[in-house]
Amino acid sequence: MSVIRSVILATGHYLPERVVDNSWFEARLDTSDQWIRERTGIARRHFAAEGETTSDLGLRAAQDALDRAGLTAGDLDAIVLATSTPDLTFPAVATMVQQGLGMTRGFAFDVQAVCAGFVFALANADGMIRSGQAKRVMVIGAETFSRIMDWSDRSTCVLFGDGAGAVILEAAEGDGSAKDRGILASDLNSDGRYRELLYVDGGVSSTGTAGVLRMQGNLVFRHAVEKLAKTATTTLDRAGLAPGDIDWLVPHQANARIITSTAQKLDLPMEKVVLTVEDHGNTSAASIPLALATADAEGRFERGDIILTEAIGGGLSWGSVVLRW
Ligand code: UT7
Repeated sequence: MSVIRSVILATGHYLPERVVDNSWFEARLDTSDQWIRERTGIARRHFAAEGETTSDLGLRAAQDALDRAGLTAGDLDAIVLATSTPDLTFPAVATMVQQGLGMTRGFAFDVQAVCAGFVFALANADGMIRSGQAKRVMVIGAETFSRIMDWSDRSTCVLFGDGAGAVILEAAEGDGSAKDRGILASDLNSDGRYRELLYVDGGVSSTGTAGVLRMQGNLVFRHAVEKLAKTATTTLDRAGLAPGDIDWLVPHQANARIITSTAQKLDLPMEKVVLTVEDHGNTSAASIPLALATADAEGRFERGDIILTEAIGGGLSWGSVVLRW
C-alpha cells in the first residue's frame, strides 16, 4: 500500500556565542561544578546576548537547515516552531522566522508543549504532511530560557541554556512498512494534574508579567524516568519495531541521569545515545533538534538508521517519535 511519509531532508542549528561554564554559578550561588556535573551531566551552556531573541535564534537555525538542504524559503509550505519563550505574546515566533527567511506564502505557527515541544511539533508536522496539507515543513525548536530564570534559585538556574535547532520534513512515498524512510510512528501525552511540578509563575492573563521558572525537580525526575521509557516502547510498537531495532536514541537533554536510565530500560548501550547536555544544558524545545543537528553535522547517522526521540516537560507533557533516517 502506498503511503505518504515525512522524511528529514536536512537539519540546522544555532547556538548563541556566549558560553557560560559552571564556575560562573560557583561565583554567584552556593553550588559547585562537581554538584552540577554529577547530578545533571551539564558542564556549560550558551546564553543569548542582550537583545538577541528566540526568533533570532530560530531564524539562524532555519537558514542553516535551508543551506544544508540546498533550498530557499520559497520551497517551504509551512513553519512549525516549538517554544515557551516567545519574543512577544503574539504574533507567533514562527511568523517572525517566516519574515526573516523572506517566505511570503504558506503558513507559520507556534507549538507550546515546553520541553516536549519539538516532539509535539514534529508529530503535528508529520500529520499535516500525511494529510496532504503541506509537502515541505520546517520544524524548529527555539528557546531563550535564560530570560525566565530565577537567578537566586540554584535548583533551576544552573540547568537551562539557550539555542535553536531545525529540521526540514518533506513528503515522500512509502509502502507503509517499517522499512520506509521518514517518520514511522509517534506518541503524545499530557496530564495537567501535574502542572504544578514545572511551570512559570507569570503570564498575560494572570500576573501580566513573564514570570520565572519553578520546578520540583526530583518529582519531575521520577515522572521522566517512568514515562519516557513507556512512550518509547509505545511508539516502537506502533511502528512494528522493538528497542533492539534502535540505532540512535536522541533524547531531550535535561539530565544525563534520566537519559542513562531510559537507555538502560530500553537495553541500549550509551554508544547509541546522542548526548549534548554537557555542552548545551537543557534548552527545552530546542534540545532534540540541536542534538539531531549536532550528530548529523558530525556524520554519525547513516541512511536507513532508526532514530528514536523522546521528551518530557511542563504540563506535564511527554511523547516520542520514531523515524528512519
Ligand atoms: O526538561 C524538563 C524536564 N525537567 C527535568 O527533567 C529535570 C528533572 N530533574 C532533575 O534533573 C533533577 O531533579 C535536578 C537536577 C533538578 C536535581 O537533582 P536531584 O538529584 O533530584 O536533587 P534534589 O532536588 O533532590 O536536591 C538534592 C540536594 C538538596 O539539598 P538537601 O535538601 O539534600 O540538603 C538541594 O538543595 O541538592 C541541593 N541542590 C543543589 N546543591 C548544589 C539543588 N540544586 C543544587 C545546586 N548546587 N545547583
